[in-house]
Amino acid sequence: MSKKLFIETLGCAMNVRDSEHMIAELNAHEGYELTEDASSADLILINTCSVREKPVHKLFSELGVFNKLKKADAKIGVCGCTASHLGKEIIKRAPYVSFVLGARNVSKIADVLHRDKAVEIEIDYDESQFAFKDFRSSPYKAYINISIGCDKQCTFCIVPKTRGDEISIPADLIVAEARKAVENGAKEVFLLGQNVNNYGRRFSGENEKINFTELLRRVSAIEGLERIRFTSPHPLHMDDEFIEEFARNPKICKSMHMPLQSGSNEILKSMKRGYTKEWFLNRAAKLRSLVPDVSISTDIIVAFPGESDADFEDTLDVMKQVRFEQVFSFKYSPRPLTEAEGFTNSVDSEVGSHRLSALQAYQDTILDSISAAMLGKEVEVYFEELRSDGYVAGRSDNNAVVKVKGSEEWLGRIARVKITEVSRSVQYGEIVA
Ligand code: SAH
Ligand code: F3S
Repeated sequence: MSKKLFIETLGCAMNVRDSEHMIAELNAHEGYELTEDASSADLILINTCSVREKPVHKLFSELGVFNKLKKADAKIGVCGCTASHLGKEIIKRAPYVSFVLGARNVSKIADVLHRDKAVEIEIDYDESQFAFKDFRSSPYKAYINISIGCDKQCTFCIVPKTRGDEISIPADLIVAEARKAVENGAKEVFLLGQNVNNYGRRFSGENEKINFTELLRRVSAIEGLERIRFTSPHPLHMDDEFIEEFARNPKICKSMHMPLQSGSNEILKSMKRGYTKEWFLNRAAKLRSLVPDVSISTDIIVAFPGESDADFEDTLDVMKQVRFEQVFSFKYSPRPLTEAEGFTNSVDSEVGSHRLSALQAYQDTILDSISAAMLGKEVEVYFEELRSDGYVAGRSDNNAVVKVKGSEEWLGRIARVKITEVSRSVQYGEIVA
C-alpha cells in the first residue's frame, strides 16, 4: 500500500505552487499519495505563511491538534515562510515535529524526510533551475513560478527575510513549463512571483536578460494557450511598455493586481514603496483608458505606524478615484525582522479596527454599483469547477467569479455567458455561445 500525504497550504499562490512541488517530489521519489484525511496520513505537512501575526499563532495550536490525531508513527513537517523565520524554534516549541523546511528549500523535501529533526532554512539557497517533478492540482490552470524571493525592502514586510533575494527563473524553462502544461490540457497559465514586473534583473547563471514584457510575449506565443494571468506586479515597475503590452495582447487576461498599501505619500515613503499617490493614480488611469473592461484589484494596509486620519482619507480618496473591483484589506501587523517593527508611532488598535471596517464598508458601496453595472453584460468564462449545487463555476477574462447551471461537460471550456443575477462576490448567468 502506498504511503499517504496530508498537506495544508496557507498564504499566497506561491505557497500553493510550492505545495504542488512538494507533492510531486514526494510522489516521484517516495511513493506518497495525497489524502484529505490527516488521521490516516503517514506524513502531515503544513505549508505556512508569516506575512501577518495571526496565522503564526494559529500554527502552534494546529500542530497540537495534528499531533493528537495523527497515526503513532506518522511524521509532521513544517514548511514555508514561518519555517524560514522560526527555524529550530519550531522543534523547541513542538518537539514532535520531525523537520522544518524553509520557503526557499522546497527541493530538499525528499531528503529532510529521512533526517529526524532536520532544519533546512538556507536563505540564499538557489532553486531557480531545479527540475521539479510534475504535479498540478488543477488540470485547467497551471501555476508557474517565474522568480523566487524579493529584492524590495518594504518596511512592513517579512517576505524578503523568509524568501531571500530575488532570482529570476530562466525564460526558456518558464516557456517549456508553460508549453508542457498546455500539452496536458491547461488553457490558462498563472505566472507567479513576489514582484513579477521586476523579472529579469538577476539570474543565478548566464542567462539571456529579458524583461517581464518580453516574457509575456514569449509565453503568449505558445499555441493552444488561451489565457495568461500573473501576480503580483509592483506599481513602481508599471512602465508604459508593460501597460501597453497588457492592453494589446489578447491572451493576457484583463485583470491587474496593483497593491496600493496606502494612498498617503507620507506613509508610502515610510513604507519604502518607491511611488507616490500621483504615480499610482496615473498608472491606474492609463490602464483604464487603454483597457476599458479592466478590473483592478489591490492590497491595502490600514493603521501603519504614523497613519493619521488625513493619511487614511488619502487612501479612501484613491479608492474613490480608482474604484477597485477587489480590495484585500489588512490591519497593520508588526512583523519581526522588518524595519517597521522598530517604529514607535503605532496607531491605537481600536482606531485601526475602526478604519478597517470603514474602508470595507466604503468598498462595499463601490462593489454594489460595479456589480449592478454587470447585469445584462456578456463575458467570456473559463469553467474550472463543478459545484455541488448543480452549477459550474469559472472566471471571466477580467476575473469575476461566474456561475451557471450546468454539468461537468463545461469543465475546461471557455464560453460566452450573459450575466442575469449579480452580487458582490459572485455573478450568475446563462451560456449564450
Ligand atoms: N509582493 C507580494 C506581497 C506579499 S504580502 C505580493 O503582492 O504578492 C501580501 C500582502 O499582505 C501585501 O500586499 C500587504 O498588503 C499585506 N501585508 C504584508 N505585510 C503586512 C503586515 N506586516 N501587516 C499587514 N499586512 C501586511
Ligand atoms: Fe513584500 Fe514589498 Fe516584496 S510587500 S514581497 S517586500 S514588494
